[in-house]
Amino acid sequence: MRQNCKLRLGVNIDHVATLRQARGTSYPNLIEAAQACTAAGADGITIHLREDRRHIQDQDVYALRHAIKTSLNLEMANHPDIVKIALDVRPDEVCMVPERRRELTTEGGLDAAGQERQLQPTLRKLHSAGIAVSLFIAADPCQVRAAARLGVPYIELHTGAFCDSKGAKARRELSNLCSAARLAHELGIKVNAGHGINLENLPPILTIPYLDTLNIGHSIVARSVFIGIGQAVREMRKGMRGYRGAKT
Ligand code: PXP
Repeated sequence: MRQNCKLRLGVNIDHVATLRQARGTSYPNLIEAAQACTAAGADGITIHLREDRRHIQDQDVYALRHAIKTSLNLEMANHPDIVKIALDVRPDEVCMVPERRRELTTEGGLDAAGQERQLQPTLRKLHSAGIAVSLFIAADPCQVRAAARLGVPYIELHTGAFCDSKGAKARRELSNLCSAARLAHELGIKVNAGHGINLENLPPILTIPYLDTLNIGHSIVARSVFIGIGQAVREMRKGMRGYRGAKT
């Protein structure tokens, strides 16, 4: 038997800010974008405050916290200045991600296993501030076990390796994602997933068990050029409707 469960959608609006920063204008307005996403059925809004501030700016984080009523998920590196902002803003969730200056996007998962000692004090502070923490990790059992040792309530599985591959490699990556989700569930960790998800690769993503939330950005913002951001969110939500959770 398969369980019927609601899969949540977090819309990452970083690339609305990318468009704004490309010209240094005040538009497109991020709050308007976030509200349109929420009105169209997004369960939460995700933003990444990068150290290089290439898209989201500090004031955006404060303004969004103030304006949106749904869940705010802040993606961030374990950097003291950014941690300070997170503790001040208090988003509902923080997703710890690795960051490299010259990368096009978050290219790999966080090495939670190799950075347990560095992560511990930050996780403690975020936890004390009442923020739910997630670690953005590859579908690797060592990383899932490290997340369990670190005591985080969530992981976010990096789906980029699956979304960027085809054929046998894609099947292997999908199988790794399914195994990592199962292991996390056994260890009592909730499972989110994100990176590179679009309407085309969504059906196999929906075979991953125990998913709580998908965080999707680039493909929704890209699609909104043609049909508007609200309709792009509705389209994605519709595609996610068939999620059946896990075999019980
Ligand atoms: N989840 C995390 C942790 C990310 O870093 C990103 C990209 O910023 C996403 C989800 C969204 O990825 P995409 O923009 O490819 O949908």
